[in-house]
Amino acid sequence: IPVEPFDLVVMGATGDLGRRKILPALFRRFCAGQMPAGARVIGAARREMSRAAFCDLVAEAVREFSPNQAGEPGMLEGFLGCVDYQAIDARGPDGWEALAAKLSPGRVRAFYFSVGPSLFGELARRIREFGLVSELTRIVVEKPFGHDLESARALNRTLAAQFDESEIYRIDHYLGKETVQNLMAVRFGNMLFEPLWNSQYVDHIQITVAESVGVGGRGEYYDRAGAMRDMVQNHLMQLLCLIAMEPPAKFEPDAVRDEKLKVIRALDVVPPYHIVRGQYAADPQLPEGPASYREEVGNPRSTTESYIALKAHISNWRWAGTPFYLRTGKRLVARSSVINVMFKDAPHSIFGADAGRHANVLSIRLQPNEGITLHVTIKEPGPGGMRLVDVPLDMSFAEALGPGGRDPADAYERLIMDVIRGNQTLFMRGDEVEEAWAWTDPIIAGWQSRGDVPKPYVIGSTGPNDADQLMKRDDRRWRGIN
Ligand code: BG6
Repeated sequence: IPVEPFDLVVMGATGDLGRRKILPALFRRFCAGQMPAGARVIGAARREMSRAAFCDLVAEAVREFSPNQAGEPGMLEGFLGCVDYQAIDARGPDGWEALAAKLSPGRVRAFYFSVGPSLFGELARRIREFGLVSELTRIVVEKPFGHDLESARALNRTLAAQFDESEIYRIDHYLGKETVQNLMAVRFGNMLFEPLWNSQYVDHIQITVAESVGVGGRGEYYDRAGAMRDMVQNHLMQLLCLIAMEPPAKFEPDAVRDEKLKVIRALDVVPPYHIVRGQYAADPQLPEGPASYREEVGNPRSTTESYIALKAHISNWRWAGTPFYLRTGKRLVARSSVINVMFKDAPHSIFGADAGRHANVLSIRLQPNEGITLHVTIKEPGPGGMRLVDVPLDMSFAEALGPGGRDPADAYERLIMDVIRGNQTLFMRGDEVEEAWAWTDPIIAGWQSRGDVPKPYVIGSTGPNDADQLMKRDDRRWRGIN
């Protein structure tokens, strides 16, 4: 369904996120017929540039990051017809009046802050000062939303000084992923799972977000952040919330966000012996292979973690006693994000000890190969007696849902359209972000005060051995990364 024509100003449009994600996502929505030809995408950045030069930049980005659709006849030209550019000075008055003149009255006006957080305040102030706000203003901000509780509070205050919370859209792109929303559909759209979704039937839950890439060109940012701030505080925390939250009364922004907030508030402090930090090291077998973390970030003494595994507890009625094991890391054996809900063994085996232990697992694959698999126990086929095997009841979106499942919309496509529609359900509220920092801050402070050094793990492995020990101590093990 197409949305009404809108004006979207992408501040910092010429940066990496604009080129890789925002502009190609808008283009794909245009090709899908959702973005009307009357909509305006206005790039705004410091650099003086003609509209034609910006169109060239957009065309290049689209061809690189959305090659399939870019080849469709007439599409790119049509999209470029929506594109405009205005140079602005975030720290001064230049360009703002010209930008105001490009906006149409009566439309949704979204301002996407694709810039470092140090500019949020300046931009917010000037948007108001130069009369760019309307009844339908929306502000979109990206992570990192602060680097600790104090800085996140300051950012929230800065934005709140100019805008109402209902106008602020804090993006966590994990919430825009197809399977992440399916997680809610599976939980709350079926009778099958929810009665079992508690500590009585669930032994534990594993959340793995493994990446095969390294830190690449983002070494400077990453070395100050580390996996805890870069991934756990936001993406893994959001996944944990959606898995663990109580059913909201409605699929509406504050109903959902209230429930997520309760989960974060119920998280116990994590003791140091429930956390493993790792840092990738070059593979000695591959002298020509990828460089170590320290080499990649150019900091030979760095003690920043590129890997985290931890065991978390949620102290509430539903989850008391059920551990949540979280792990994420870069330069691991594969790119794979999976949530595994590990059910308990049947209370008694009528098939005797030889039948072994067979517990159900619900695997929710976020990427790649999005889908959901329920592992169930059946009899091994054949005349060999009652031997049990585990088989997958598999739902791969690509197979089950045809073209829509094969090529699910990218997270940014969905989230940007939600901004235009004014739906905040998949965006983080200010208090959620602050609570998540309140949980991570003491963990990070503990490492700093103890001078903690991350354990090395070889590039292409599944992470440091200590992460396996974390599970072994509890008589459990990680499911494979693949
Ligand atoms: C970003 C992190 O938020 O998410 C990156 O800053 C990480 O370090 C990325 O690589 C992972 O996103 P995705 O969608 O590729 O899993």
